[in-house]
Amino acid sequence: PLKKGTAEARTYHDDMKCILWTASDLASRISELGRQIAADYEGKAPLVLGVLKGSFMFYSDLVRAIEPCPRGLTMDFIRASSYGSGTESTGDVKLKTDLKKEKVAGRHVILVEDIVDTALTITTVIRYLQEECDVASVRTATLLDKHERRVINYKPEYVGFTCPNEFVVGYGLDFDEEYRSIPYIGVLKPECYAHLGIKPEPAESGESGDE
Ligand code: XMP
Ligand code: MG
Repeated sequence: PLKKGTAEARTYHDDMKCILWTASDLASRISELGRQIAADYEGKAPLVLGVLKGSFMFYSDLVRAIEPCPRGLTMDFIRASSYGSGTESTGDVKLKTDLKKEKVAGRHVILVEDIVDTALTITTVIRYLQEECDVASVRTATLLDKHERRVINYKPEYVGFTCPNEFVVGYGLDFDEEYRSIPYIGVLKPECYAHLGIKPEPAESGESGDE
């Protein structure tokens, strides 16, 4: 494995410059989002579609927070990876899915994302659902919105928190596949990636095929 952090850093926690949202900050905001979604989707039998991998932790907390749970709610996942040259995503987003068009057509889809950054990923998924799956509607629930970095003008309907223009990890978000399991969201210390000679831009994390 790649050596991360400083010599004295023994755990992932030592690699954090600061914590932006604690586990309890996340839990209380997600319970608000869940109640709002439950009210908006009453009687609509929504399909909650997670964008893997980054959203897995937010997804599992959010679906449990959609209370009272609308009858007919079902769950599925789609995998998206962006391939970039250098530090910016090119918008060449690859989707991997075994969704059956006949099961998705006519459904009210709630996309669940960890973070909307340039918005290239989420708008590619939305285009696919609208153009190839004939969904009835699609909205996005994203835990974080890093809107300063938009390349495409896009406003997600449900946002947990506005994210500063810094590289964040934890609660599903990774750098080079690490840090996903930590229960809070923090800013990674620059010295944790300086030795790789790169900036941890989304295009880089996408090149390893993760999202
Ligand atoms: P966009 O909106 O640029 O987002 O298509 C693509 C993907 O990039 C990842 N991303 C991040 N991952 N910390 C991360 O761990 C970050 O600060 C960050 N910003 C973007 C994320 O997987 C998103 O889906
Ligand atoms: Mg993602």
